[in-house]
Amino acid sequence: MNYDLIIEKMKKNKRLKFEEINYIITNFTNGKISEEEMSTFLMLIYNKGLSYKETLYLTNSMIKSGEFIVFEDLNRIIVDKHSTGGVGDKITLIVSPIVAANGLGVAKMSSRSLGLTGGTIDKLESINGYNVNLNKEEFIKQVNDIGVSVISQTERVAVADKKIYALRDKIGAVDSIPLIASSIMSKKIASGSNVIIIDLKVGKGAFMKDAKSAKKLAKIMIKIGKYWNKSVAVIMTDMNVPLGRSIGNSLEVKETMDFLSGKYRDKRLETLSLTISSYMISLGNNIPLKEAYKNAKRVLDNNEAYDVFKKWIKSQGGNPNNLKEKASTFEVISDKNGFINNIDAEKLAEICSEIGVNRTDKRTEVDYAAGIVLNKTINDKITNGEKLATIYYNETIKKELIKEKILDAFEITGIKNKEKSIIIDVIL
Ligand code: URA
Repeated sequence: MNYDLIIEKMKKNKRLKFEEINYIITNFTNGKISEEEMSTFLMLIYNKGLSYKETLYLTNSMIKSGEFIVFEDLNRIIVDKHSTGGVGDKITLIVSPIVAANGLGVAKMSSRSLGLTGGTIDKLESINGYNVNLNKEEFIKQVNDIGVSVISQTERVAVADKKIYALRDKIGAVDSIPLIASSIMSKKIASGSNVIIIDLKVGKGAFMKDAKSAKKLAKIMIKIGKYWNKSVAVIMTDMNVPLGRSIGNSLEVKETMDFLSGKYRDKRLETLSLTISSYMISLGNNIPLKEAYKNAKRVLDNNEAYDVFKKWIKSQGGNPNNLKEKASTFEVISDKNGFINNIDAEKLAEICSEIGVNRTDKRTEVDYAAGIVLNKTINDKITNGEKLATIYYNETIKKELIKEKILDAFEITGIKNKEKSIIIDVIL
């Protein structure tokens, strides 16, 4: 096998065999193929695309680059969900106890925040005492007993993906259908669950800008899942607006508890949580979607899901009533009358990164207490002088600049827009 011959073949639009793709992936993972050489390979995929078969070969080779997790001691059907990255996305915290209360198992390895995207592990670490590093026996026992455990991602799953993703980010080759499909599916298949629900964000700030290309990506991921005998559903969701009312680690845990206990439920967050839970329950328990929806709603409304959440957190050493939430606050007040027709999630995420919610190139530690709570959301009426948002912070910040950016993120107009559902489509 020879690197130059493989590249020549790609340039001539000839299809690659598994052995050729595997040669590149294996040798990039072990350091024998340089970043420069790999960039050429990735840019050829980015510009020319890959056939379905080649995308499957790429996925399989990435799975082979790391550990394959087998949950042989688990007595529950394992279901998983993956989000391609939302702002204020606390869905894992909400749906895991809902599906666990329906007899299924969530044995999840999650990641930390990076750039504009939050990470479930940071959210959980904002709960004092929560241990993200259970050993295998503790992890499996907790999933069997309670139905859910979320720990920090092992570095050993789909090893090639981490290296490739970092390089894609550097060379601007992220938004490519075969590269996204192989990246997501290699991690999910190697992680061992039977059912995989993908929350595919579509919109301005997402990797997938339009519904047509998102649908194409969804179909390829489902086909790869079928090859591996997994039940996969892709829920295409609108990502232009933040999910729920809070963005920030401890603030999102608080919103999760308000949501599960029934104290306050943001409408869009409820729609998405129940949709994702329903597909996980329907495919996991092999029951019709309508019945699964009713079961999800029932355990949410009778507090069974909230009880599972509390048991889960306690079992991992955390106390949900003791969050890392010490912060100063200031309020941003509306200077307009009208209706909120849009909230730019990307702009809010940029502010959050500035005040320490996520990790960036310059920041390796997160501020668990920092973030934004929206007092008004999309389609709400607002009057001049009413509170739009509250900022939680600990660093020295330029308040005037942040205020300006928040006001800029809210689009307020005289006429109320027609309400759009957060769910764009579901592909099975
Ligand atoms: N999420 C992933 O895990 N990989 C991608 O390439 C894009 C989104």
